[in-house]
Amino acid sequence: MAMIGTDVNYAVALLKAGQLVAIPTETVYGLAGNALDLSAVSQIFKVKNRPSFDPLIIHLPAFSAVSSYVKAIPEAAAALAATFMPGPLTLLLEKSEQVPDMVTAGSPLVAVRIPAHPVAQQLLSQLDFPLSAPSANPFGYISPTTAAHVDEQLGPQIPYILDGGPCEIGLESTIVGFPDGKPTVFRKGGIAVERLESVVGPVEVKAHSSSNPQAPGMLKSHYAPRTPMVLGNPEDFIAKYRVEEIGCIRFQEAFHGVPKAQQLILSPSGDDQEAARRLFAGMRQLDSQPLSVIVAELLPEEGLGRAINDRLRRAAAR
Ligand code: TXA
Ligand code: MG
Repeated sequence: MAMIGTDVNYAVALLKAGQLVAIPTETVYGLAGNALDLSAVSQIFKVKNRPSFDPLIIHLPAFSAVSSYVKAIPEAAAALAATFMPGPLTLLLEKSEQVPDMVTAGSPLVAVRIPAHPVAQQLLSQLDFPLSAPSANPFGYISPTTAAHVDEQLGPQIPYILDGGPCEIGLESTIVGFPDGKPTVFRKGGIAVERLESVVGPVEVKAHSSSNPQAPGMLKSHYAPRTPMVLGNPEDFIAKYRVEEIGCIRFQEAFHGVPKAQQLILSPSGDDQEAARRLFAGMRQLDSQPLSVIVAELLPEEGLGRAINDRLRRAAAR
């Protein structure tokens, strides 16, 4: 298992030496390495078992540091950055020569994120290079929202996990690109579409495609537990499975036909932020039980409910 601790200086030293460190952000934990060091970047792909065609996000301490890594900043991007950065937003911008092609998987665009987590901020402000950091999970599995989640799966392969506590948001960042200057959501995430629209007006939503050439990592089968997952009403599964075999993901209320310990209730009060925060840890917990199926209920399609439903649909699409 990896060493887990809160020593930011040690993490800085490892990263400067070209090693990988798992880092906390407010969305999910990331598997970080020097984005300008090809050997560190190739290690990231290897440890995650991630295909080389799936590009990585670069992380910087402030939006003012972005200019050397991009060619231009569209007006709408600047407006979104001013409102939501640092925070759970990632912008797809035209990359400069500074960004290695390996990071963007050959794409002329680079994904840029400024995490708000105080530990990530402390770390990034001590580095003179951006960090490439995908979510710190094996490719295709649920993203980690605690240091222990990272340790369970990637622990043996990385020297250090920087512990910043459980992630506040619990969903990955919202990815926004600007094809022809028009703000377009390529992944629903921690900033709700309505909030983006309050700043830049109507946005296009292109997320949730299994073959989206502009966001190759947006495959349907992401975020999946090992236990088969389906969307629907647990009532319909009672006849097909024994009660002990059925897990449930519910928004506010338990399903009465299945023991409570087999159910993830996301937010009894119906709060989408609480639901987001609890989703991935809850899915892991259910996945650790000897269940044959997990039946998930969708949330109302608004606020973070849209991003949560996106993750549930992808997990069920496997
Ligand atoms: O919240 C987050 O964004 C977390 C934390 C650690 O920052 N990171 C994260 O990274 O979720 P990852 O690699 O698991 O997901 C990033 C997604 C990938 O699926 C990738 O396809 C897409 O962003 N992406 C990255 N760079 C891209 C690019 N240049 N063009 C299109 N899509 C890109
Ligand atoms: Mg990921």
